[in-house]
Amino acid sequence: MFEHPDFDDHEMVAWFQDPGSGLRGVIALHSTALGPAMGGCRLWSYASDADALGDALRLSRGMSLKNAMAELPLGGGKSVIIGPVAGPCRAAAFEAFGAAVDRLGGAYVTAEDVGVGVADMQAVARATRHVSGLAGTETAPGGDPSPFTARGVLRGMQAAAEVAFGSPDLRGRRVAVQGVGHVGAALCGLLADAGATLVLADADAARARQVAARTGAEVADPGAILAVPADIVSPCALGGTLSAPVAEVLQAPVVAGAANNQLATPDIAPRLAARGILYAPDYVINAGGIIAVGAEYLGGETRADVLAKVDAIGPRLAGLFAEAAARGESPALSADRAAATRLAAAR
Ligand code: NAI
Repeated sequence: MFEHPDFDDHEMVAWFQDPGSGLRGVIALHSTALGPAMGGCRLWSYASDADALGDALRLSRGMSLKNAMAELPLGGGKSVIIGPVAGPCRAAAFEAFGAAVDRLGGAYVTAEDVGVGVADMQAVARATRHVSGLAGTETAPGGDPSPFTARGVLRGMQAAAEVAFGSPDLRGRRVAVQGVGHVGAALCGLLADAGATLVLADADAARARQVAARTGAEVADPGAILAVPADIVSPCALGGTLSAPVAEVLQAPVVAGAANNQLATPDIAPRLAARGILYAPDYVINAGGIIAVGAEYLGGETRADVLAKVDAIGPRLAGLFAEAAARGESPALSADRAAATRLAAAR
């Protein structure tokens, strides 16, 4: 693990398993300098255990940066469950995962990520209290983080539109959304309400058609969505989709989406900047979900407080865009510097 290319002085990495339910996975704690390491649990069928470890290492580091930038009293952690998990064993597997989380005594707090829903977190909660994303109410934050993530992405898009087009108004702007799962579908709804014209794609064609029917969107080929003519491209599927070849064929002047770890390699950020494409750093724009589940776990905040914090993602990004422009660097670099400064001050 110490030789792994994605190892970044993580504080702790713990593998867990439960033979009864077939559960296997890994929890990575990147940093607890700012508070308990919080970040979702991903269920994914990895080609190898090394791939699962790499994902956990990258995602947990991203959570440290995300939580620091969102000014949360939380460190960065993430867990991955190596899928598939057999349907009848699912609740037992998540309960066993909860027991693994509990063994860490609160150093790690879990919630939903790709492949994991509220019912899974409710199973986790039978074994530990260090879990969030369980259920919200009219006034209290909580439950599925995706709508909060989508709202934050919308605010980030508006901030980016102000820089790129001179107005935050998305009316008539053509937005291309890659991946219309929990976040992407919610985002499409918000964008349609804001008057944007949508083109979307999903690896699951039926899902793409469903969301398109609800939002009046055009459906594109998943292989071509990032290169369609558009004002804004929004990666909302898995990470790594902004590769070097994609960076050359992108036509939209703005990239603003929810996916974690969008840049396949760090050198993509300056390439986009060199092409005049404004990239909203992923871990800044997609913090709405962790803001909500963090508030649910920590307590003491109303739903209105949480929405105000999610809306603050817009001004935060505007500040980063201004700093990047003043320094002649990519917004990703400005964000990395700001997050590293906050983490270093807390150590
Ligand atoms: P999800 O699993 O509900 O949706 C992902 C969607 O992307 C699925 O519909 C899948 O079919 C589709 N997809 C996968 N590969 C694709 C491809 N190559 N082209 C087109 N579509 C593809 O996941 P969710 O929760 O919506 O998350 C989306 C992204 O946002 C992930 O990267 C996640 O880590 C990130 N994120 C999610 C948050 C949340 O609140 N759910 C919070 C912050 C980040």
